[in-house]
Amino acid sequence: MRAVRYHSHGGTDVLTVDDIDRPDPTGHEVLVEVVGAGVNPVDTYFREGSYKPYQLPMIPGIDVAGRVVETSEFVEGFSEGDAVYGTAIGKDHDGGYAEYAVVPEDRLVHLPDGVDLVAAGGAGVAAVTAWRALVDHAGLQVGDRCLIHGGSGGVGHAAVQLAAAAGAQVITTAKPTHHDRLRDLGADAALDYRRDDLAEAIVSAAESRATRDDGVDVVLDHRMHEYLDLDAAVAATGCRVVGIGEKEPAVGFSQSSAARGKDLQLTMMSMFNTPDFREPLSGLASLMAAGDLEIQVAETYGLAEAAEAQRAVLEDSFFGKLVMTP
Ligand SMILES: NC(=O)c1ccc[n+]([C@@H]2O[C@H](COP(=O)([O-])OP(=O)(O)OC[C@H]3O[C@@H](n4cnc5c(N)ncnc54)[C@H](OP(=O)(O)O)[C@@H]3O)[C@@H](O)[C@H]2O)c1
Repeated sequence: MRAVRYHSHGGTDVLTVDDIDRPDPTGHEVLVEVVGAGVNPVDTYFREGSYKPYQLPMIPGIDVAGRVVETSEFVEGFSEGDAVYGTAIGKDHDGGYAEYAVVPEDRLVHLPDGVDLVAAGGAGVAAVTAWRALVDHAGLQVGDRCLIHGGSGGVGHAAVQLAAAAGAQVITTAKPTHHDRLRDLGADAALDYRRDDLAEAIVSAAESRATRDDGVDVVLDHRMHEYLDLDAAVAATGCRVVGIGEKEPAVGFSQSSAARGKDLQLTMMSMFNTPDFREPLSGLASLMAAGDLEIQVAETYGLAEAAEAQRAVLEDSFFGKLVMTP
C-alpha cells in the first residue's frame, strides 16, 4: 500500500510516500481502508519530535474514517464493508495518512448511513476534543453562556456546534470573514479576536441571567498563553475554563485574585486521556447523522501533498478541517 511516513524527525521535508506491505490486524484490531484522515496540528508535533511516536519510521495522522476490510480474531462488533471512523492512532499505532490503517476496536465506531466519510475523517481529534472539553470537563448545561475562542478552527467549529446543540448561548471569536458561517453553525455572537475591546464585547454579548452575574459560564481556550487573564476578566462566578492550547501559559492567572474572587475552575486536558473513545465518538456520530454537527472540509489532500497539508494546518487561515484523502 502507499503510505506517508517520516523516517526521522524534522520539518515537512521528512515526509515521504512509501510503498510498504499492507498491515495485518492482530488481537483486537480492525483494518480500515482509509477514505478520510484529518490533518491536525498535533500531527506536526509528532513529526518534528516534540511528541514521541512509538516507532520510526512512522505513518502520521491521528484520525481515520473509511470502510472495514478485515478484522482480527477477537473483534466482534465490526464486519467487512462497515463504514467507521475513529481517532487516537498515530501515536502508539501507525496513523491515517495511508491507504489502509490498523485501528484498535475501542477507538473506532460505526458511522450511520448518510454521514460523509471524508468529513468524518476530519472529525476525530477536533470533535472529540470539543466534546471532552465542553461535556466532560466543563459540564456544559442548557442556558450556559459559552465562550469559544477561535471558532473557525477544527476544534472551534465543532465546539460551536456542540455548544449550540446543547442549548448554550454561544459566543465565539474569529476573523470577520468567518463570522457569517459561524452564525450559520449556531453561534449567537461572533467577534473579531483582534479587537482592542474584546473582553468588554464578550461580556456585553453574554445574555443577562436573573440568577447569575454578568459574563460567561464556560470558556474553551486553545491559546492560554494569550487569553487566561481575559478568561478571568469575562468569567461569571463559577465559570469553568478548559485549556487545550500547546504553548505554555503564563503561570496561572497574573491577577489570581480576579480568578479566586469568581470561584473560577481551570482544567487543562489532552484528548489522548479520553477514558473510552467510543463514548464521544458515538455521541458525535449521532449528531453528524442528525445534521447537528457538520464537519466543514476546507481542503482535501492526496498522500503526495502531505507536506503541504501539514504546512497549511499551522500557517493558513481556513474554516473547519483539512483532510487527507489517500
Ligand atoms: N489538548 C488537546 O487535547 C488538544 C486537542 C486538539 C487541539 N489542541 C490544540 O488546540 C489548538 C487548536 O487546534 P485546532 O485543530 O482547532 O487548530 P486549527 O484548526 O488550526 O484552529 C486554530 C484556530 O485558531 C484561530 N486563531 C488564530 N489566532 C487566534 C487568536 N489570536 N485568537 C483566537 N483565535 C485565533 C485560527 O484562526 P485564523 O487562522 O483565521 O487566524 C484558527 O481558526 C492547537 O494548538 C492544537 O494543538 C489540543
